[in-house]
Amino acid sequence: MIKSVVLIFTLALIKDQLRDMTNDLNFSKKILKPEEWLKNWLDQHSLKTSQSLLMYSSYWDAYVDDPRLMLIPMEDHLVHRGDGVFEAFKVVGGKIYLMKDHLDRLELSAKALSLSWPFSRERVEKTLQEMVALKKIESGGLRIFLSRGVGLFSANPYDSTATHFHFVLINSKMPAVEKYEKGAKLGRSLIHPKSSPWCEIKSCNYLPNVLMKKESVDRGLDFTVAFDEEGFVTECSTENLILVDENDQLCRPKLARILKGTTMMRAFSLAEKLVASKDLKGILEKNLLEEDVLKAKELMIVGTTWDVLPVTTYEGKNISAGQPGPIAKKLLQLLREDQNS
Ligand SMILES: Cc1ncc(COP(=O)(O)O)c(C=O)c1O
Repeated sequence: MIKSVVLIFTLALIKDQLRDMTNDLNFSKKILKPEEWLKNWLDQHSLKTSQSLLMYSSYWDAYVDDPRLMLIPMEDHLVHRGDGVFEAFKVVGGKIYLMKDHLDRLELSAKALSLSWPFSRERVEKTLQEMVALKKIESGGLRIFLSRGVGLFSANPYDSTATHFHFVLINSKMPAVEKYEKGAKLGRSLIHPKSSPWCEIKSCNYLPNVLMKKESVDRGLDFTVAFDEEGFVTECSTENLILVDENDQLCRPKLARILKGTTMMRAFSLAEKLVASKDLKGILEKNLLEEDVLKAKELMIVGTTWDVLPVTTYEGKNISAGQPGPIAKKLLQLLREDQNS
């Protein structure tokens, strides 16, 4: 009796081993248990280049400060369809600069894609402020992503169960002072810019912008600017372009072909002071051609990262004698004062 039990047990063991061997022969990888998967990930994923300090995700309704665990599920439509919108804020002196303007834009972007907010704007503001306070950040960045949420692997937004928020607090440094003293090199982009309404929505589909950044890096430039089908200036990869024309007017391209930059709009309202002080003769929005760029007294890049950055060359030709101009300096100062007020 005992002998036959041992025999059955041994046979079962051999069968298991044979099955494992067959598995090993047929499949190149094994299926890890969840805890093995997690351990491998935690052991191998490098933290060295991470900028991320803290993440909030509505999936957990909690924070995590280990960048290795700041993850969005594969089945979220944000991941496999780019179905989501986002915002990039900057933190100055422990405060979120232009928070209202960024959240207004997030609302518009979300509305354009029929993405409902998982919770109220008041709660978003509170959470963002709490994140900054938790990590005691004086200067840095914040990103908000609003995703369609987990669902089937389809393009159908109705396949997702619920939208989700993901906020990330970032350790980003202020750009180097030398860049403002030297000015930026700008070129003409060969990338076709997004048309309306896509350019007006800060969606998680940034491929033309990514390719614009790539072309500027490939060409040894700081930025490239795209032109629309009619030859009008649109914007740079993730920045707006503004200029001072021959008549000392501060000009920005029409809003229908660009993202309505929070920095550009704020800079334009601050520039009223420069009209009052007669540094500028006026402020306007108009269609700008490449010849306007070439004739400009000053060209400036404006955006959350750079505030106001003077451009000193366009396609290798000097702008404002190859030196940062006075309006760029004054606008930058006004914006920095505004951030610290
Ligand atoms: C395409 C594009 N244009 C312009 C801007 C500048 O906008 P903001 O001043 O709000 O950073 C950004 C940055 O968000 C952008 O992605």
